[in-house]
Amino acid sequence: MATGTLPRFNKPVSSPIIVALDLPSAAAALDLARRVAPYVGAFKVGKELFVSEGPDLVRQLRQTGASVFLDLKFHDIPNTVAKAVAAAVRLDVQMLTVHCSGGSAMMKAAETAAQETAASLGRTAPLVLGVTVLTSMDTAALTELGGETDITRQVERLARLAAASGLRGLVCSPLELTPLRAILPASMQLVTPGIRTGAEKSDDQKRTLGPAEAIFAGANWLVVGRPIYAAADPVEAARKIHETTRTHL
Ligand code: C5P
Repeated sequence: MATGTLPRFNKPVSSPIIVALDLPSAAAALDLARRVAPYVGAFKVGKELFVSEGPDLVRQLRQTGASVFLDLKFHDIPNTVAKAVAAAVRLDVQMLTVHCSGGSAMMKAAETAAQETAASLGRTAPLVLGVTVLTSMDTAALTELGGETDITRQVERLARLAAASGLRGLVCSPLELTPLRAILPASMQLVTPGIRTGAEKSDDQKRTLGPAEAIFAGANWLVVGRPIYAAADPVEAARKIHETTRTHL
C-alpha cells in the first residue's frame, strides 16, 4: 500500500522504519545508526540529542548515507519558522516537524521555505510533517486551552488545515491512522510512533500497534525507538521489524 507514495530521498528508501535516536550522546547514536542501517529508512534526531550534540551529529549521520528526520517541532511566527526550515534544508535533512497549531500561514511558510531552499540547492525538498494534538494531551488539557475540547475532532481539524496549507505529511498516533486516512488526500504521508512488537517490556506508550498492523492501517513510516535501541540485540530487532513490514509493502 505505502510503496508508491514514499518520497524520493537522496538514496532509495527501502524501509519504512525510522529509528528514534533517543540516546544520550552522538557516539551512541552513530554507533546504533551504523549497526541497524541496512534495515532502516531514516533516523530521527529529537530535541535532546540535537540540543546536546548540535548540527554536527546530523552531518555525521548524513555522511553515513542515512536519511535524517529532524524532529524539533517548530512553532513560531511564519518568518522565524521559514528561516528554521531553510536552515534544516541546508543541513540536508529529509523530514522535519512543525506544530499545526502554529496556523495555516506558518505551515505555508514552512512548506514554501522547504521547496524554495531545496530548489536553490538542487535537492529534493524534505517532507515537512505536521504535528496535530500531542498524544500527551487529554480532554482536560485541551479544555484548559479553550476552543475545541474533543481530541478526535481537533486532530481532524488540524490535519485538514495542514493538507489545505500544502503540507505533504503528518505525524499521528496509531489509532488516528484509520480516521485520518478517511479524510485526507491519499498522497499524504503518515508517520506513526507508538509501534510495539510485543517482544519488549511495557513502557509509557499507551496506544500502540504492531508494525504490520500500522502499515495496514495506512502508515507510510513507523517511528521505532525502544523496541530497537533498548533491545538485547538491536540489529536483530530491526531486522525482524523490517521483515514484518516488507510483507505489507
Ligand atoms: O521508544 P519509542 O518507540 O516509544 O519512541 C517513539 C519516538 O516517537 C520517541 O522519540 C517519541 O518522542 C516520539 N513520539 C511519540 N509519540 C508522539 C510523537 C512522538 O512517541 N505522539
